[in-house]
Amino acid sequence: MALREENVPRGPFNITPIFVKRAKGAIIEDVEGKQYIDFAGGIGVENVGHCAEQVVSAIQQQAEQYIHTCFHIVMYEPYIELAKRLNEVTPGDFPKKTMFVNSGAEAVENAVKIARYATKRQAIIAFENAFHGRTYMAMTLTSQSQPYKIGFGPFCPEVYRMPYAYCYRCPFGLKYPDCKLRCADYLEDFFIGHVAADSVAAIIVEPVQGEGGFIVPPPEYFKKIKSICEKHGILFIMDEIQAGMGRTGKLFASEHFDVIPDIIITGKSIAAGLPLAGITGRAEIMDKPHVGGLGGTYSGNPIACKAGLAVLDTLNAQMLERSSQLGEKLRDRFVDLQRRYEIIGDVRGLGPMIGMELVRDRQSKEPAGDEAGDLVKRCYGRGLIILRCGPYHNVMRILVPLVITDDQLERGFGILEDMLKEIA
Ligand SMILES: Cc1ncc(COP(=O)(O)O)c(C=O)c1O
Repeated sequence: MALREENVPRGPFNITPIFVKRAKGAIIEDVEGKQYIDFAGGIGVENVGHCAEQVVSAIQQQAEQYIHTCFHIVMYEPYIELAKRLNEVTPGDFPKKTMFVNSGAEAVENAVKIARYATKRQAIIAFENAFHGRTYMAMTLTSQSQPYKIGFGPFCPEVYRMPYAYCYRCPFGLKYPDCKLRCADYLEDFFIGHVAADSVAAIIVEPVQGEGGFIVPPPEYFKKIKSICEKHGILFIMDEIQAGMGRTGKLFASEHFDVIPDIIITGKSIAAGLPLAGITGRAEIMDKPHVGGLGGTYSGNPIACKAGLAVLDTLNAQMLERSSQLGEKLRDRFVDLQRRYEIIGDVRGLGPMIGMELVRDRQSKEPAGDEAGDLVKRCYGRGLIILRCGPYHNVMRILVPLVITDDQLERGFGILEDMLKEIA
């Protein structure tokens, strides 16, 4: 730790003081041999589990053949195979194309580049509480100032921000379903008050807001937003970086909403920890930018693509079924905790992408951010790694590897409940 502090800046943050020795499934072992149950999955990257056998062997085999030629110089099959697979499995029964980059933020950047090029329009609409990454455009699209944006301005021009369907703290002060989804219809007003519809290239949105607080909009929300987009020739970009790859019980969270994005962005769990992200979209849109307009030295690295293919093989119907079951189990447990602990104001999520919002008072909904921070610390002290999120940092979130055993889940829950009892 002393060497870390001496040699690495403080900006790249650390949630725990733990140094890993090895990790398997849903267990992380530290350099002192202490084991932790992992409810964080490296921030939603280990849906198929740490060091899943198929993934490790795909990485090993690929590393023995070739590691890098640069796709733009000498092409390789894993890139094309994975693009084909993603074109097949992403929502939408129409020709699609996929390109790869190294990180979620870079994928967001490229989705914006493609949308602007294809529509010849400049404006992008993002949402309150959104998180899309830390590069300049991705950070601009991100909503939360602390810690993501403060001190880093100026930001990119032509980004506009709409309220999101955060029902627990409705920005319009209404209640679902009586609200009749005012927050979605508001998009038409937004074109009058903020930016003209025919200047807007795309709307970018997370199907379940991740860093923003595990916020799930009502089931009809995206259909409404998408139909308004269609009416005005605006592209609908779904950022599935955190919610995709089986996290919500389906391969893509968009499937829960019966909505077909024009462009879908994948990352995190797509390659189980290797740096990879994908941009998949309607072929005619993806093909608009000129040859040489898109790319990068490492983008779609062959080892990462091979890991991605192994992940897709692993995320079969059985694993998705397990994901749904896990979601039900987690929801039951959280709702039960909510009955017993006043501090839990809201339980929400889709499948096992579930969180609980902590408040000091259920009436005023005063966020219990410090208490959530305390809970995170107490949990890792007892051997459970868990994260929080949300604009007030008061939402405990579960991004557990889907391969966690029932016994590990129970033990994790035991720790969480004991620690909750202590702070409550
Ligand atoms: C929804 C969403 N979009 C984009 C990103 C950025 O991804 P990366 O950290 O790989 O750049 C994240 C990361 O947390 C995310 O959750």
